[in-house]
Amino acid sequence: MKMACLGQVTPRPPVWFMRQAGRYMEEYRKLRQKYSFMALCHEPDLACEITLQPLKKFNMDAAILFCDILVTAEALGADLDIVENKGPVIQNPVSNQSDLDKLVNCEDALNRLRFVETTLKALRAELGEEKALLGFAGAPFTVASYLIEGGSSKHIAKSFRMIQESPELFSALLEKLTDLTIAYVTMQRSQGVDAVQIFESWASLLPADIYLKHVFPHLKRLITELHDPEQPLILFALANDNLWKVFQDLPVHVLSIGPDVSLRQFQGKAVQGNLDPRWLLCPKDLALEKANQLLHDMRGSEGYIFNLGHGILPQTSPENVHALVDLVLHSA
Ligand code: CP3
Repeated sequence: MKMACLGQVTPRPPVWFMRQAGRYMEEYRKLRQKYSFMALCHEPDLACEITLQPLKKFNMDAAILFCDILVTAEALGADLDIVENKGPVIQNPVSNQSDLDKLVNCEDALNRLRFVETTLKALRAELGEEKALLGFAGAPFTVASYLIEGGSSKHIAKSFRMIQESPELFSALLEKLTDLTIAYVTMQRSQGVDAVQIFESWASLLPADIYLKHVFPHLKRLITELHDPEQPLILFALANDNLWKVFQDLPVHVLSIGPDVSLRQFQGKAVQGNLDPRWLLCPKDLALEKANQLLHDMRGSEGYIFNLGHGILPQTSPENVHALVDLVLHSA
């Protein structure tokens, strides 16, 4: 994993999947009957167990911490719940300066994230050095969009308006999230993670000119301050080719690309992706045919990590996941 992150050709690509632990697995659903999603994140023993479920069953090369990008928002004071069939809901969204002032300072917020440190310590001990351990965090804007909207939103209209009407407020919120995220990733690294993935999932929800002016400087600061040649950063985004051309110059080791963008255009950087997760909902042979095409296209490239272009969908059949992991493991 680390070799691929550092841009080396590997006999076969390492493989893991975004959302590899989750509702498509019976083992996960069983635990979810007893505990809320947030309770599973907060309890290190359970988070550790869930993180390892997919590796035990399918033998991926990397474990990704079981948690959520919104724990940074929660640590700052967001009253967060993940509601069945609805997704995240935040009861006290940030819409003015007084809401922003109510958020706690970064040091206190970081202390509320200590449960992640405990989970990672247990995971590193369990995994040994054979399997990679991945940490992650939400990028400031993707997390801010939930804090401002109060939940998932297709059009992020409140965020759009805040940028126009109160650009200083928007910027101060992103600044605060950036500071916390730098400290949070640093804490994760102190537990020996092999790489950290930054999720800028909603980059494409803003017009590119607005994104570049009001959001990108914060993402750039996050990544520049976290840059370390020995500690790989993976940047995941759903973005178009033009935005990726800009992201390409950031000092990250790996670009994790969404399903609709060609991986081959990014010479000089490791890439991760990008099988459309919907192929895994199709008959197995069809899913494997598409995966084989991708493996063939990427053969010999310097630094390639096999993944989906976005998270595994809850309806996915575990049998197809098994077959896909096996295909990549035997593709040398
Ligand atoms: O990849 C992994 O397996 C690690 C764990 C992980 C989760 N969420 C678990 C989760 C990671 C890395 C995330 C990231 C995340 N969370 C993102 C960025 C990635 C992306 O998908 O674009 C975003 C936008 C969120 C916010 C979030 N959390 C949403 C929108 C939802 C609801 C949508 C859904 O799938 O239900 C969640 C809840 C969530 N996060 C679940 C899981 C396993 C489902 C919770 C449940 O069991 O009900």
